[in-house]
Amino acid sequence: MAQTNTAGDGQAERKVLRVLAGEALSPPPAWMMRQAGRYLPEYRATRAEAGSFLDLCYSPDFAVEVTLQPIRRFGFEASILFSDILVVPHALGQDVRFVEGEGPRLDPLHGRAAFERLRAADDPAVFAHLEPVFETVRRLRRDLPAETTLLGFCGAPWTVASYMIGGRGTPDLAPARALAESDTALVDALIDRLVAVQTEYLVRQLRAGADAVQIFESHAGTLPGLPAGDGADALARWSFRPIARMIQGIRAAVPGAKVIVFARGSGLDGHARVVPETGADAVGVDWAVDLAALRERLPASTVTQGNLHPDTLIEGGPALDAAVDAVLAATRGLPHIFNLGHGITPQTPVENVERMLARLRGA
Ligand code: CP3
Repeated sequence: MAQTNTAGDGQAERKVLRVLAGEALSPPPAWMMRQAGRYLPEYRATRAEAGSFLDLCYSPDFAVEVTLQPIRRFGFEASILFSDILVVPHALGQDVRFVEGEGPRLDPLHGRAAFERLRAADDPAVFAHLEPVFETVRRLRRDLPAETTLLGFCGAPWTVASYMIGGRGTPDLAPARALAESDTALVDALIDRLVAVQTEYLVRQLRAGADAVQIFESHAGTLPGLPAGDGADALARWSFRPIARMIQGIRAAVPGAKVIVFARGSGLDGHARVVPETGADAVGVDWAVDLAALRERLPASTVTQGNLHPDTLIEGGPALDAAVDAVLAATRGLPHIFNLGHGITPQTPVENVERMLARLRGA
């Protein structure tokens, strides 16, 4: 296996990596969650050529192309591998499809028998299935500008488990929450399987050339109120501890590996706990959190990322300028990676992304 990870030329110029190591840069380096996506006409064209969304994810030619599109257009300082968090359940043997205009659909995991049918975490078929993703990472590291940080990613165990159990992105994740209460052992077993398989998944992305990885806990906001037992709270029990185990496993295999954790919906308090409780190198901040208030609670050395409301990017104009300025004001002199507080939406005008970057880079 090619191991081009940390020794690559130009690594010293990778600004996102410098911030992840604790440096405060002005202006901060920038990328956007979902930066390769439907708001870009060139993405829509490649997507139409590739066929289904999963065909796009599993074709290194097409996946590399769409990953590079926002880098060519905007020169973001980081590039995120184009794939999806749901390729992992797919690799475990669950049926996954993306329904046009509706989002992901999985065969819901009903009961222990369905769990027993999933592939084991060390089944070579799991990583054979994911090989196109590693090939995409290898090619990206070769094709990206040397100064661009390459990010790999996966979903956090709770978020991925919630799709596997519910079969879709239900608003309150009622099926996953109900199962966590009625058959706690089964949800624990599923989370353990996801911790094991995704630790190895991220290690392989890093070995294929990813400079750092992000773990998406997009459904952290559904956790409060779940039973946690043993004196812990639900966020620790179902999210932060499993993520901490992943990060320990990743660093045991790839010493010094850099990890960003995005725990959307976990509130000011949840965001403040991410780094101490998971061991992450940076906390991704959603748009609902007051970034200035969060920064006041965090040690100055904590690396933050994100927070710009995706709706201000739809709105554009002076409101967008003000939103960019607010992020900069809250993080001046502190290590911060500029990003949104959730993914960019398909209806965002491309010129507003240009305006955002002009404001940022002129600051
Ligand atoms: O950020 C990037 O540019 C990298 C690619 C990426 C995608 N999905 C591509 C995608 C990443 C990092 C993800 C992560 C992901 N996938 C998350 C976590 C982040 C978040 O948004 O909270 C989640 C929850 C998923 C699951 C998923 N994939 C959903 C719910 C949907 C449907 C919603 C939608 O936007 O359509 C997807 C589809 C998806 N994943 C698209 C893209 C570009 C749109 C599909 C298309 O092109 O038809």
